[in-house]
Amino acid sequence: MSLTPLLNSLPKAELHLHIEGTLSPALMWELADKHQVRLPYNSEAEIAAAYQFDNLQSFLDLYYQGADVLRDEDDFYRLMWEYLRACHEQNIVHTEVMFDPQTHTERGIGFDIFMPGFLRAAQEARQEWGISCYLICSFLRHLSEQAAFETLEAAAPWYPDITAFGLDSSELGHPPEKFARVFKRVKELGFAIVAHAGEEGPPEYIWQAVELLNVDRIDHGVRCQEDPRLLALIRERQLPLTVCPLSNLKLCVIDDLAKHNILSLLDEGLLVTVNSDDPTYFGGFLNDNFSALEHALGMNEQQLQQLIVNSFKASFLPEADKQYWT
Ligand code: HPA
Ligand code: ZN
Repeated sequence: MSLTPLLNSLPKAELHLHIEGTLSPALMWELADKHQVRLPYNSEAEIAAAYQFDNLQSFLDLYYQGADVLRDEDDFYRLMWEYLRACHEQNIVHTEVMFDPQTHTERGIGFDIFMPGFLRAAQEARQEWGISCYLICSFLRHLSEQAAFETLEAAAPWYPDITAFGLDSSELGHPPEKFARVFKRVKELGFAIVAHAGEEGPPEYIWQAVELLNVDRIDHGVRCQEDPRLLALIRERQLPLTVCPLSNLKLCVIDDLAKHNILSLLDEGLLVTVNSDDPTYFGGFLNDNFSALEHALGMNEQQLQQLIVNSFKASFLPEADKQYWT
């Protein structure tokens, strides 16, 4: 029997989602027209057809190019509003959304443009649908430590609206240790910490994220299984992994979803969650990721329920809210 009715009926949380990765071809097309931005495509269909990737970098090149159509406060509002509407449609009641300030500040678009847009959409979604939305400010790891410190400083007026800081973009060649001092400061400021590690990078990068950045969660982390000592540590500490199956498939981290190790990690007792990462680029929102696990891996009802319970357990919600939802 299909798990779809149960999947749709259960309230869920999403913990690994890049807001810039929710830009639909339709909205990109519309905003390019609005701002007279020249796109290397002749139609919305051509945009969608271009989304074939060989690795993380080939995706990031298109993702940063696409973000160039986001120019004014209303664009960022629309982006967030459309994602939160998709949350409502999938019964996602809580989401922790990453944004990449440097993708915008490098183009002269500051926190005073994108933050009001994000926050207005989040506030409306809370009023309209009761959805809670936390924000995770992520540093681009291909840029310098100095640039990350400047971003942390530029974010200061918005600290009350930010729950955590994160680390994303090109992983290989940019190990977590490059940002150890930045995250030491982030910790002193009292924020939660997440970092992408072990997506394309080796287990050593996950060790660094845990030991040098003091992460509260690991984004992806699927390569931890290559190192039994690391796996044991992650299990013992119940450090959450925010896994993104369709992303791993699209970015060729795996060549077949049937080979994904998410259920094996779950069965080993790790606190794993399912997430969509960049849904409009990778061909599926959160519920599509769950459905893909049902079809490719034979995920059963008990595993589905555990993954959903984990999504709240691994969140940054207050304990009382976690208990309410689990
Ligand atoms: N990995 C690293 N950086 C990213 C990703 C990802 O999957 N998506 C958006 N930025
Ligand atoms: Zn990601």
